Amino acid sequence: DEGAVFQHRPAVVTVMGHVDHGKTSLLDALRQTSIAAKEAGGITQHLGAFVINMPSGASITVLDTPGHAAFSAMRARGAAVTDIVVLVVAADDGVMPQTLEAMSHAREANVPIVVAINKCDVPAADPERVRVQLGAEGLLLEDLGGDVQVVEVSAKTRAGLDKLEEAILLQAEMMDLKARSDGPCQAYVVEARLDRGRGPLVTAIVKSGTLICGQYIVVGSEWGRIRFIRNMLGRATASGRPAMPVEIEGLKGLPMAGDDVIVVDSEERARMLSNGRKKKLEKDRLLKARRRIEIEDTS
Ligand code: GTP
Ligand code: NA
Ligand code: MG
Repeated sequence: DEGAVFQHRPAVVTVMGHVDHGKTSLLDALRQTSIAAKEAGGITQHLGAFVINMPSGASITVLDTPGHAAFSAMRARGAAVTDIVVLVVAADDGVMPQTLEAMSHAREANVPIVVAINKCDVPAADPERVRVQLGAEGLLLEDLGGDVQVVEVSAKTRAGLDKLEEAILLQAEMMDLKARSDGPCQAYVVEARLDRGRGPLVTAIVKSGTLICGQYIVVGSEWGRIRFIRNMLGRATASGRPAMPVEIEGLKGLPMAGDDVIVVDSEERARMLSNGRKKKLEKDRLLKARRRIEIEDTS
């Protein structure tokens, strides 16, 4: 691998926690925008990906996840693709079922946790209780000699936001995150949607290498030729820095969040790989259905 170009890359940070503990509000406060207020029912129902530029000049790529119980698979994917999990716990509500679930996703994925105790502005806030609860779940908090950083914040009053940024950046620094920007591209999908005019659109995060307009790609079991790439600066011909989210246009079908993006060298190869994967998916589906029937027969 002589001559490989490794460069520092931004951390990918996934925000997780129980429903309504303030994940989206916290990100809004960090970005100074207001996404939470525009969400239907105030509930996050997809994985959002964006970049936050810190006052220090550093940037991080952030994935917001839903806290609603129904979206467990999305949280698992969120933990699997990230460098750091920011675990948001409301200071009044304390540790709840999806707090624990998020913790176990992070552990399973072997991803370090930074705890943000949010809503510290409300009268019923009890951050000490939250610390005790987390400690009881085996989280080794730094206040008690462990290495998990804990920050008290309020998305509403913006108290503690600077400390949270510091904690995330410190964690990222300790991990010394690097990626190669040359060579074959590896990327994963964090969001996929169908746009009326533009067709299937995926938001992907590039792990290494560079995606380039015109390349043939296979994403999960779908294929296409990249028509446009949108990065943080707008329409571009290539994907830019690793760890930055990009929007890719040009797929023939809609892949799923969590799918890998693979670059291949011809349309023929893309079609072949896509067909093979579709056949395998169909076979798995039939096998599963048959097994279900067998179980019903014997019971
Ligand atoms: P899901 O994505 O649905 O899991 O929710 P979430 O964790 O993203 O929470 P969201 O940001 O939607 O906030 C839930 C509610 O808590 C909203 O009414 C917010 O205004 C409120 N909230 C969030 N952060 C704070 C805070 O620091 N203080 C107070 N007082 N209210 C907050
Ligand atoms: Na919410
Ligand atoms: Mg949310």
